[in-house]
This record gives sequence, structure tokens and C-alpha cells, in this order.
Amino acid sequence: MPSKRPLVVVTRKLPEATEARMMELFDTRLNAEDVPMKRDALAAAVAEADVLVPTVTDQIDAPLLAAAGPRFKLIANFGVGVDHIDLAAAQARGIAVTNTPGVLTEDTADMAMALILAAARRLSEGDRLTRDGKWKGWSPTFMLGQRLGGKRLGIVGMGRIGQALARRALGFGLLVHYHNRRRVAEDLERELEATYWQSLDQMLARVDIVSVNCPHTPATFHLLSARRLKLLQPHTIVVNTSRGGIIDEAALAQMLMKHEIAAAGLDVFEHEPALSPRLRRLDNVVLTPHMGSATREGRLDMGEKVIINIRTFADGHRPPDRVLGG
Ligand code: 8YV
Repeated sequence: MPSKRPLVVVTRKLPEATEARMMELFDTRLNAEDVPMKRDALAAAVAEADVLVPTVTDQIDAPLLAAAGPRFKLIANFGVGVDHIDLAAAQARGIAVTNTPGVLTEDTADMAMALILAAARRLSEGDRLTRDGKWKGWSPTFMLGQRLGGKRLGIVGMGRIGQALARRALGFGLLVHYHNRRRVAEDLERELEATYWQSLDQMLARVDIVSVNCPHTPATFHLLSARRLKLLQPHTIVVNTSRGGIIDEAALAQMLMKHEIAAAGLDVFEHEPALSPRLRRLDNVVLTPHMGSATREGRLDMGEKVIINIRTFADGHRPPDRVLGG
């Protein structure tokens, strides 16, 4: 990067403290209105800037990167997931990509645990019913959910967030099962009292709750396909705080409607912010608008990571959170 005060274009409104620090350190163009940038604005940004700070709402694909100017050398993503960035196209153009791992782990695991609790104990349904004045009074058989203690939680993807969820789950008396490309270290498995399943199919058929915690890549698109969802037992709860595309949403909605799956807690969707109309109508689904990392502290920490990544890169060093070298 030619200048230590690089031109940095930020695509969405970031926390005030992050924006203030970026303005001090870089020639920064902010998005005060927080209206997602249109494609031509993004293309103009990569044509002119040294660095782009996108979020999950920006499609950084090959045609967009074809508009990159000679100065454009870094995509410093605000977020850990990079499935909205064409990494191969960035690599081919020598553009580095960084993300913000670690700082949103605990918040996202909290959200996964919250959705497990909410789906098992019918929190949204109970809230709606109470609010709507439909509660006729206490009854021994009213609004019965599922007990968590002693149930099997199957974690799909035992990375940072999967492990943080496992730690929480132990506190709720859940039995931790997991599927991952690679088995985790023995001492970690012992600490989490976790059972490894090499076969995702076999795990799905034997757990009571499934939580999706793997990244979204071409290999994990529709990992929970219609065929795999059919392996679940009818009392199973499905929770997703990763990316909507990992589950076949239409198949999931269909099965929830027919009570072939008991309930779901979804923070992410296949075509965000659009929601399949069927999901909206179902009472056995808890829906939240992609807020897994949405804490004040988390977003400030994410901003800090973005700044450190840009700063080290501009200084000619290897940024700490490199996804791609450039
Ligand atoms: C972020 C996320 O809010 O970091 C991620 O991958 O999904 C979210 O927690 C979002 O991606 C910001 O770009």
C-alpha cells in the first residue's frame, strides 16, 4: 500500500468510537446514513480506494473486483464470515482479505444458547400469546415445552463458536455431541465431555437439538439438505446462528409445518432480510434478525480488529486476521 494514510471506504455505519478512530488514522469515507451502498457506489469505491470495509450485506464478487483500481489492496471485513466475498477472485487480483474472529465468539454462542432455550421452552409463542391477551390462566398441561437437561445437543462445526456453545450447554445439563471436518484435540474433547461423530448423518439421527456453527462455504451450502433433515427425530430442535444457506430453508419450513421437526430457532436466513412466508406463519419457530454478534461491546471489538488489520497492513506488516494474503 503506497500511503500510511490509506483511503478507506466503509460501507455501513459503524460504532461512533470506531468511526472516530478511523477518521484519525486514515482518510476515511463513512456511510453516515447507513443505507447499503449500491453496486455502482461499491465499484467506484474499489476503483479509487486503498481499502474497503464491507459487511455481510455487501456482495464483493468477481465482477465488482474487476473494477478494482491499482491502489486497491485490502478488504478489511467487519465480521468473521466471509462468504459474501469471492476469495478466489480477490486472490487472483492480489487483494488481501481480513476478518474479525474471536471477538464475537461468546456473544454468538450466547445467542445460540438463547435460541435453544427459546425454542425448547416456547418463549416467543408464550410472549405473543400473553401480549395478545389470549392467556386464559394457568393450567397443568398448558404451553408444555421440552426439558433441556439430559438431552443431546449436536453441534455442527466445532470451531470457536461451537466450543463456546458447548461450554454453555454443559451448564444446562446437555450432552455435547459434535460433527466437524476434523476431530478436536483429546483434552478439549475431554473438557467439553464431547462425543465426536465422523458421520454427520449418524449424528443427526441421534440428537435432540442441532446447532449449526460452521462457516458457510461452497462445501457447507445446504449441508442440512432436505435428505439430512429427514434423518432428524420428530422432537428435534434446529438452531442456526451461522448462515442461512447452510440449511435448506424451504425444506426446514415444510418439515416444521408438518411437525416432522419440533421447533427451530433461526437468527440467519437464506435470503436475508427476506423471510420465507411459511416460516413467518409458524408458531414453533423463534426468529431473530441476524443479531448473533449484536452487542455494544462486540461491535466495538470488531471495529478495533478492523482498525488493527488496516493499520498493520498499511505499515507493510502481516495483518493479524488474514483470511487471504493478497
Ligand atoms: C456480523 C456475522 O454482524 O461476523 C459475522 O460473520 O455474521 C455477524 O455477526 C456481520 O457479519 C457483520 O458483517
